[in-house]
Amino acid sequence: MNDSYGRTIDYMRISITDRCNLRCKYCMPYGVESVEPRDILTLEEIQAVAMAGAGLGIRHIKVTGGEPLTRKGCCQMVRMLKSIPGIEKVTITTNGILLGRYLEELVAAGIDGINISLDTVDRDTYREITGYDGLAEVIEVLERAASLPIPIKINAVSIDFDGGWASVAELARKYPVDVRFIEMMPIGYGRNFKTLNHQELLFEMEKRYPGMQPDSRVHGFGPAVYYQIPGFQGSIGLISAIHGKFCGDCNRVRLTSQGHLKTCLCFEDGVDLRKILREEEGESGSLRANGHWQWRYQSCPDDKALQQRLTAAMSQAIQLKPAAHCFENPEYITEVHNMVDIGG
Ligand code: GTP
Ligand code: 5AD
Ligand code: SF4
Repeated sequence: MNDSYGRTIDYMRISITDRCNLRCKYCMPYGVESVEPRDILTLEEIQAVAMAGAGLGIRHIKVTGGEPLTRKGCCQMVRMLKSIPGIEKVTITTNGILLGRYLEELVAAGIDGINISLDTVDRDTYREITGYDGLAEVIEVLERAASLPIPIKINAVSIDFDGGWASVAELARKYPVDVRFIEMMPIGYGRNFKTLNHQELLFEMEKRYPGMQPDSRVHGFGPAVYYQIPGFQGSIGLISAIHGKFCGDCNRVRLTSQGHLKTCLCFEDGVDLRKILREEEGESGSLRANGHWQWRYQSCPDDKALQQRLTAAMSQAIQLKPAAHCFENPEYITEVHNMVDIGG
């Protein structure tokens, strides 16, 4: 559907957990407050929201976290999302630590693309950023993933921890993967870091790679602007949230793991869909033998009345989607959650 500014909203980012197995300095250096399992949407609840989204014109879904692969049943979630009529592509953004274990299962579930977060190719710097000595594991799975017939992308936040942006960019020469640099956004702990200015990074890139050309091919559904470099197998993308504001072309909404439909990264605006999903249930639910919380569904995900209520609420929230972020005026940011709660 279109929002009040005429933007077509066809992309939904779904965070399936707020947990993560890393402790990136700019994201969740001290872990997260633990959330009751019952407060996290179940697979069926996510299915209900995704179905209503598909009815409103959502075509692409990005599965995020926290770290999505820490949630049991992540691959089952991908399979479920892929089976929803109207949903064309389901992709995932992961830190790669558990990807070695789940790669084949994700592919079998029909995943259409994988983004791997990797800010550095220096082992010590990786450990310093993430709190875990995991660079070798991520590189190993990157090599495996790069041989798959689906797009693989690297995400590197532009803090230039070790002055080594070019070593990360070189991954796109070595492997058929796109490497995207992301301007650090002042959300949560991200406020404590100064981002590289992508206008300056672009200047550095042009100096280092004189044959670099804009790449206008479509690489995904996100805000990255791509460049091709002679001799490189993949492209280099710039996600310039601060110095290249792309809100005029925004195509997305976000569903947090606790069921809040967020209409902009910068603001708390949106609607509590969990309340709608559970309003008939009251606070009743039960713990299964395996320790997972099970809501007693009076209605199933495709229940007509539930779908109508979700559709009405989502459509109203999308109509009220803010025009743009206000990162340049941080005092106006109303989002108080960390990136890990929002799903990136
Ligand atoms: P694809 O290119 O289709 O894979 O999608 P994507 O780039 O949206 O996916 P990914 O999950 O890898 O996100 C990359 C970065 O872009 C993350 O840091 C996101 O926070 C950032 N990003 C995604 N959507 C938005 C947005 O609406 N606004 C801003 N400011 N940043 C966004
Ligand atoms: N600004 C920009 N990107 C961020 N990420 C996490 N926190 C921030 C931030 N404050 C990135 C992660 C991951 C992606 C989903 O979001 O590094 O690649
Ligand atoms: Fe985990 Fe991603 Fe946050 Fe790092 S940025 S702590 S990998 S959710």
